[in-house]
Amino acid sequence: MTDIQFLTADGDPDTVVTAASGETLLTVAQNAGQPLEGTCEGQMACSTCHVLVRAVEGAALPPPSEEEEDLLDFAYGATRESRLACQLVLSDDIERLVIQMPGGSVDMSR
Ligand code: FES
Repeated sequence: MTDIQFLTADGDPDTVVTAASGETLLTVAQNAGQPLEGTCEGQMACSTCHVLVRAVEGAALPPPSEEEEDLLDFAYGATRESRLACQLVLSDDIERLVIQMPGGSVDMSR
């Protein structure tokens, strides 16, 4: 299980949820009512699932693939903490995440 604290685009605390191993961060975030469109449903074609990973406790996140990094180059407000939520599969080793919504999104699939 992974505890996830979501932050709004302004950095204010929003929902806290507990996610099961094997779920993608995108699914968990959408179920928690977070404003991530995820237009391409995890096909790595849109970048509307872009989030900012503000903190990780427990195991480190797996590094982004080259394709993920390429798409992140076009994500709205991307920083070094940017990830595509559809590509992050949670595992029990990841104890806690703090995930901030970006201030907007760009849909690269349009
Ligand atoms: S849902 Fe489209 S890139 Fe993640």
